[in-house]
Amino acid sequence: MEVKPLSEAEIQAIRAETAGTAGRIHLNNAGASLPPDVVVKTMVDFLQEEAVHGGYETEAKYRAQLDHTHTLIAQLINASRDEIALTENASAAWDIAFNGLSFQPGDEVIVSEMEYVSNVLGLLNAQKQYGIVIKVIANDAAGMFPLHELEAAITNKTRLIAITHIASTAGNVLPVAAIGEVARKHHILFLLDACQSVGHVPVDVQAIGCDMLAVTGRKYLRGPRGSGFLYVRQSIQDKLQLNCFDGRTVTSVTQQDFVVRADARRFEWYEKNPALVLGLQKAVEYVLHIGIERVWQRIQMLADLLRQRLQAIEGVVIHDQGDVLCGIVTFSLTGIPVTEVKAKLATKNINVHIGLAPSTLYYMNRKELTGIVRASVHYYNTEEEIERVCQELRGLC
Ligand SMILES: Cc1ncc(COP(=O)(O)O)c(C=O)c1O
Repeated sequence: MEVKPLSEAEIQAIRAETAGTAGRIHLNNAGASLPPDVVVKTMVDFLQEEAVHGGYETEAKYRAQLDHTHTLIAQLINASRDEIALTENASAAWDIAFNGLSFQPGDEVIVSEMEYVSNVLGLLNAQKQYGIVIKVIANDAAGMFPLHELEAAITNKTRLIAITHIASTAGNVLPVAAIGEVARKHHILFLLDACQSVGHVPVDVQAIGCDMLAVTGRKYLRGPRGSGFLYVRQSIQDKLQLNCFDGRTVTSVTQQDFVVRADARRFEWYEKNPALVLGLQKAVEYVLHIGIERVWQRIQMLADLLRQRLQAIEGVVIHDQGDVLCGIVTFSLTGIPVTEVKAKLATKNINVHIGLAPSTLYYMNRKELTGIVRASVHYYNTEEEIERVCQELRGLC
């Protein structure tokens, strides 16, 4: 499919609708992106209306619009609205799915080395609580996920494959559709951490074949902090144990029993911040309007440019490896602490982040990295911004 690149005029219009782009170069999109103005305005307006009319009354007025959020999210990832539950963040979404699996001693969970610390903690906790066995598949020397090792690791005890699509502190994209094919072939559940990938690369749950998927709102989706969602394939919803309940988890309750609702909203709390829900909805609408293929194309172009320019600076070591590289660019400067790089760039109104070893510990420990500079680009960044950042880095080196 031919993808039409975002034009200069479109980028300028997008930047004009993103207040944060005026005063700084934001390369911390893998931390939290700058939201479009409409996301912020929608939330502020909603909060003001709540303050004047009452929380329940305002919610009732916007009920249909709030409910539309599930539909738009489903559209973005090619799911059905009944397969979406809103959560506070990606960790909460991952936990609901993972802890719903009622493990038995000896059950095996296969993960990639790219797992985020929240997931690793969930795994270690299940190891302590149920005696599960964690099998970690490391990338090969070229930074590629070895599919044959995944196949070889599967036994009749394997309960789950849990993979991170794009890691917090590495620049490569894992081959999730191929991993999904392996999971399906062996009839093993597949939980995907898509925290860094939704809003960044095209994510299609049917093409990937994952059963559960965890996402946050504030990163590449450009949604509000404190928002996220969980996708659970319809056919496995009844297989997941529920660990949290409120009145909306069920369709009926008596003194003796209850009936759980028939959709994924059973995994979501009733009480949440509706302003954030609408903010997230606007962010999803925004990316749907632009088109995720165009977003991905531009991110790749900008990240390639950044890697090329960094490569030309003496003293810069780029850590990203693999055949598909994304908008997360990780590097260090020989002899200069990562904290100093971040602080110096901050004085020039340039936001980057430091990825520390514990956040992606299997990968960082294997690579013997304690911390790296992470410059994560989004489609609203520009070539001029990349040049300016590299100019500052050249000065530092
Ligand atoms: C790959 C990955 N997974 C999960 C998370 C956790 O997301 P949240 O902070 O929304 O719970 C992060 C956060 O940085 C992440 O990078």
